[in-house]
Amino acid sequence: MEEFNSSLSFDKRLYSEDIKGSIVHAAMLAKCSIISKSEADIIIEGLKSINKDIEEGQLLIQGDYEDIHSFVESNLITRIGEVGKKLHTARSRNDQVALDMKLYCKTKAKNIIEELEILISVLVKVGESNNVIMPGYTHLQRAQVVTFKHHMMAYCSMFGRDKKRIANAVEVMNESPLGCCALAGTTYSTDREFTSSELGFNKPVDNFLDGVSDRDFVIELSACFSIIMMHLSRLSEELILWSSKEFDFIIIGDEFTTGSSIMPQKKNPDAAELIRGKTGRVYGALIAILTAMKGLPLAYNKDMQEDKELFFNAMDTTSICIRVMGEMLNTIKVNKDKMYSAVKKGFLNATEAADYLASKGVPFRDAHGIIGAIVIYCEENKKAIEELKLEELIRFSGMFENDIYEFVSYNNTLDKGIKKLLK
Ligand code: ARG
Repeated sequence: MEEFNSSLSFDKRLYSEDIKGSIVHAAMLAKCSIISKSEADIIIEGLKSINKDIEEGQLLIQGDYEDIHSFVESNLITRIGEVGKKLHTARSRNDQVALDMKLYCKTKAKNIIEELEILISVLVKVGESNNVIMPGYTHLQRAQVVTFKHHMMAYCSMFGRDKKRIANAVEVMNESPLGCCALAGTTYSTDREFTSSELGFNKPVDNFLDGVSDRDFVIELSACFSIIMMHLSRLSEELILWSSKEFDFIIIGDEFTTGSSIMPQKKNPDAAELIRGKTGRVYGALIAILTAMKGLPLAYNKDMQEDKELFFNAMDTTSICIRVMGEMLNTIKVNKDKMYSAVKKGFLNATEAADYLASKGVPFRDAHGIIGAIVIYCEENKKAIEELKLEELIRFSGMFENDIYEFVSYNNTLDKGIKKLLK
């Protein structure tokens, strides 16, 4: 049962949040005259020395303790004696664990936002230094011309939304559960406003039962992480495709690829594949935590301990994937000639050619048909639209004039569309 029940091996990472919460709780007890000022001072000193010893490796978090909360409290009592037993007045491990998790989530959410900011700056830099023409796709079929920079900026928009989603999740969770105690508050006259503001929350939670049984914030952050992973996975998939010989659009730096143990020519995009693959475990954490919570009566149930390993793993995974993606992107070389020749072979100015006819009064649906016939003609004659002579074009429609060439030039197309946006 001890082995089965204990969460110490994974909740030990909450030690500094646990100690921080206890220090503020002890100060509140003294402020409300529930314990004396000198008792609080001894408790606070003891907690600080435990924190210091853990940080310096003098005190290892191990042993037969049920969780980090019992570990810290037992160590406190060993250090300062009887007075240490007063710390847990007007508190339960139920509000304590909810508090620790919220404090931890708030710090880590900030870190992930910073990591996303670094990734965004890499995307901008890589896009800016490769502001070259490339084919844009729908259905993975060459569609219209875009630039590599515009493609990178699409991901900046996604990661920008991810940042907002996390900041919003933090704003929603930013209420202190400390003081809810086991489920019904306490007969002591405590000061929840004080502990809430000392710990950096907007306010104490409104409802005690909710305060100790809410894990929405863990779920919401896991959902944010899942969306980030989905974006990273799509980008990984593109990097994998683009670095294949079939595309040959980019080369990923050797640091982020591996060779094959049997095929000497291979350069495998392992880092991108791992990011794509690890997306599964982050989605898994979200679904597992949602499922663990769905049937729980109010208030605290031990099932809720199951959130930790899953959430910590999802968070660590998301964090390392964001960092690896940024560092890998920094090493990519863009093969501008390959991209340009894919554009030329792809009739990526066919839509613009149809727009040209439409601007001359041909109904768009008819213009679409005319250009379709021209594309077939080009394929048969191994030519691009812009390589056809005016006499050839006129055979398909009398509306073609010399200005068509300017209209279908790729640089002009981009100047009219995407480049405006990128300025
Ligand atoms: N380890 C527990 C958890 O992670 C802490 C709360 C324990 N509370 C209790 N009443 N047993 O949820």
